[in-house]
Amino acid sequence: MAACRPLAEHREVKLRDRTLHSVPARGDAKRLAQVLNHLLVNAIKFTHADGEITVDSTAEGEPELIISDTGVGIAADDLPHVFDRFYRCAAAEVMAAQGPGLGLAIVKSIIDAHHGSVHLESEPGMGTTVRLTLPR
Ligand SMILES: Nc1ncnc2c1ncn2[C@@H]1O[C@H](COP(=O)(O)OP(=O)(O)OP(=O)(O)O)[C@@H](O)[C@H]1O
Ligand SMILES: [Mg+2]
Repeated sequence: MAACRPLAEHREVKLRDRTLHSVPARGDAKRLAQVLNHLLVNAIKFTHADGEITVDSTAEGEPELIISDTGVGIAADDLPHVFDRFYRCAAAEVMAAQGPGLGLAIVKSIIDAHHGSVHLESEPGMGTTVRLTLPR
């Protein structure tokens, strides 16, 4: 998360760490760090200045990491496709955010390899929430 601070500062987006406990995760630490980085960069990229990104975790049940942003959001029609390779929503162009559209495809393949799950919920214009779970 610390690695994303300079980008967040540059974009004038607040980055809040609300995690109270570490989320236990077994697997390839380097790949899992790559997942977190992709998700945080997306949250920063698709959020306007003065927006906010919050990273939270749940203690009960299956450990879950939640990354929410107050960004442009994702239209309902786009949501089923965001994990496709090279898929970019129209809002990505509006934000003038660069990227080939591979980040979430990579995230999905790493999380699948760890038998975890990754889900996106979004309200266009309000923001996006990503929920990440990994088996203990
Ligand atoms: N947090 C988010 N808020 C709004 N839109 C998002 C968010 N995360 C992803 N998206 C949308 O999903 C698309 C696909 O995301 P993905 O990370 O795969 O590609 P990218 O960020 O455009 O490029 P890359 O990650 O390869 O640099 C994005 O182009 C954007 O339209
Ligand atoms: Mg991306």
